[in-house]
Amino acid sequence: MSNRTLAILKPDCVRKNLIGTVIKHIQDASFKVLALKMVKLTNDSAGGFYEIHKERPFFNDLLAYMTSGPCVPIALEKDNAVKDFRKLIGATNPANAEEGTIRKLYAESIEQNIVHGSDSDENAAIEIAHFFTRKELLENNGL
Ligand code: CMP
Repeated sequence: MSNRTLAILKPDCVRKNLIGTVIKHIQDASFKVLALKMVKLTNDSAGGFYEIHKERPFFNDLLAYMTSGPCVPIALEKDNAVKDFRKLIGATNPANAEEGTIRKLYAESIEQNIVHGSDSDENAAIEIAHFFTRKELLENNGL
């Protein structure tokens, strides 16, 4: 799985009509889209996805935000996918993100930061499986 990562275009990205714009950044950076869908997360699904943050003070706000509208999970493939994708999106807090990164360009706050990217190969595998079945990945990979 080391060449895969999971992106989520978050509800603020969808609300601002930036789906196409952000996917263009991703594809221009040579990531291949393996699978993609639009979903409205439930509290359970968002809570499971962000389980690792459940003791953090921002957890409830994070769930409210992530369930506030549809989002777009995308399974991506590229050499060094996890590392290269995190470089493309920039720091979690857009105020600290490098110029030209997706978060620097489009994000408003550390919470409403437009896009998620997996932080390790191990989590990428878990996160991709959270949204996509093996069959969906295999079918799309064969295109
Ligand atoms: P993400 O990369 O999806 O991982 C966890 C998310 O929690 C993060 O993006 C932000 O949306 C949110 N987050 C992280 N740190 C904070 C914080 N200090 N305050 C509010 N939200 C945060």
